[in-house]
Amino acid sequence: MALRFEILGRFNRARAAKLTLPHFVCETPLFMPVGTQGTIKGLTTSQLEEIGCHIILGNTYHLALRPTSELIHEMGGLHKFMNWPRALLTDSGGFQMVSLLHLADITEKGVTFQSPVDGKPMLLTPEESIQIQNRIGADIIMALDDVVKTTITGPRIEEAMYRTLRWIDRCIAAHKRPHEQNLFGIVQGGLDPVLRDICVRGLVDRNLPGYAIGGLAGGEDKDSFWRVVAQCTAALPEDKPRYVMGVGYPLDIVVCSALGADMYDCVYPTRTARFGTALIPEGVLKLKHQAMANDTRPIDPTCECTVCKKYSRAYIHCLATKEAMGSILISYHNLYYMMKLSRDLHSSIVDGRFPEFVCTFLQKMFPKGD
Ligand code: GUN
Ligand code: ZN
Repeated sequence: MALRFEILGRFNRARAAKLTLPHFVCETPLFMPVGTQGTIKGLTTSQLEEIGCHIILGNTYHLALRPTSELIHEMGGLHKFMNWPRALLTDSGGFQMVSLLHLADITEKGVTFQSPVDGKPMLLTPEESIQIQNRIGADIIMALDDVVKTTITGPRIEEAMYRTLRWIDRCIAAHKRPHEQNLFGIVQGGLDPVLRDICVRGLVDRNLPGYAIGGLAGGEDKDSFWRVVAQCTAALPEDKPRYVMGVGYPLDIVVCSALGADMYDCVYPTRTARFGTALIPEGVLKLKHQAMANDTRPIDPTCECTVCKKYSRAYIHCLATKEAMGSILISYHNLYYMMKLSRDLHSSIVDGRFPEFVCTFLQKMFPKGD
């Protein structure tokens, strides 16, 4: 195991912890920005440090295609290659193939897909995913899982859950750097409590350094989403980090943290920025909207980020439709907002103010109580 997880405070099921990884000491609850191609679109690594990012995500699938894991390894690993001194997490690749390439096909051997480079059929096995992730060198690596959309029902959900359990043993056997990199298992099982329970128990038996809850945020209703998160967090070990994959919206992060989850990742804050949308305590601010054209206020007058200190909504509105700088400024603010939310969750739990924090958060977001 290459991590330490110390719980510093609790409120009911919520926890605030210090997560010591090989490259950085992170504080949870924690949002992790997604940098698919070894970059968070539009931001330098110095800006990410300035914003307070502790750990960012890379994707095995994208990095393996270009520049290739062999090259990253030759360059001294992804931290060095992308000039990011803090922690990194790589996802295993299967999810990206299934969600991006509708051409992916899953068999017991692994995930087969058509190469987007030359169209040739390729196969990503659990062994290969881990080998690639060992070469990339992230602090946390993810097991290859069989991911099914939550909106699908029937025997395929059960097949994917049992396959994910069979694959975890192949991932563990293939992992060559357990003292430098932490392999997390991923709980699957769709919205079925019996399948989720079998999967959690199976993974917990493997005594992994951390656990993720996968197969969510794929279009299921909120009640099912929260029920699955609550069931999994209740069954996972207290003394290991819990990561809800692909989440999400600020509200979801607050709710999942109340349910005992610790880590999150999502493209939402940066993707929505590229469409001109800023995250603010009241919800969202659409900077392309005509009402912004002569608004002299910053994106969020209560925000302390550099963008809010220096630029008006009117200026960002002017850039938002044509200039790359428009989406860069909004991305910077949005990630600052997510990191501030992470810090506020952490400190409110440590200081015993978590219920007050949640109430204030909800009142700002839903002032009419709806
Ligand atoms: N990202 C979002 N959801 C998932 C999931 O279920 N599995 C993996 N590997 N990545 C994800
Ligand atoms: Zn700001």
